[in-house]
Amino acid sequence: MARHPGAQAWVPESAGTARLREAARSCEGCDLYREATQTVFGDGPEDARLFLVGEQPGDVEDREGEPFVGPAGRLLDQALEDAGVDRSGVYVTNAVKHFKFERAEETGRRLHKKPTRGETVACHPWLQAELRAVRPDLVVALGATAAQSLMGTDFRVSTQRGRVYDLELGEAGRCEFMATVHPSAVIRLSGDERDEALARFTADLRKAADLVGAAH
Ligand code: URA
Ligand code: SF4
Repeated sequence: MARHPGAQAWVPESAGTARLREAARSCEGCDLYREATQTVFGDGPEDARLFLVGEQPGDVEDREGEPFVGPAGRLLDQALEDAGVDRSGVYVTNAVKHFKFERAEETGRRLHKKPTRGETVACHPWLQAELRAVRPDLVVALGATAAQSLMGTDFRVSTQRGRVYDLELGEAGRCEFMATVHPSAVIRLSGDERDEALARFTADLRKAADLVGAAH
């Protein structure tokens, strides 16, 4: 049985993102640190108005140590650009900070495995600490893991995407929240379906940018 005591004991109080990132390197709040290469912490300016949350780092992110720098990141970059958003002004992170995978028997390739609710809950203190440090105007969840980490397990991206909600940040106040799909869900499609899904994803990001006045 996996033990997931949670990240809380590793999270420094009232720290900026640089100190949080450093502290997260040694987190053992759940079992995922054992097999992964390194912690992949959030990245972006501390004064970002827009804050994006993915699921967990993928194979490329695990090796490079930065979020959304693999195939899903390329699609995200394209959609942000088409939405008129400069990624360098956005804080980008994940609900879970270590890569979870299983090895393909024949090729030995590391295949993404969805984090459990227990792992997402264990890692939540890091996400909360990032939100307290950045205090964005709007958080956009990319996919169900991120949305449910912040809004609870009743949240359904399929029916609630694109709507704006209130998100309580404790002593850091509140901000707005919106969910859309995960870029990997777009990558998996092909042909017209992919084009449509990408257009909808881009439209959601454009709406997010408009909400924070980030589009140019
Ligand atoms: N998928 C995610 O959710 N996050 C990443 O950083 C990369 C792929
Ligand atoms: Fe800590 Fe999160 Fe990594 Fe688990 S996934 S070890 S809680 S940083």
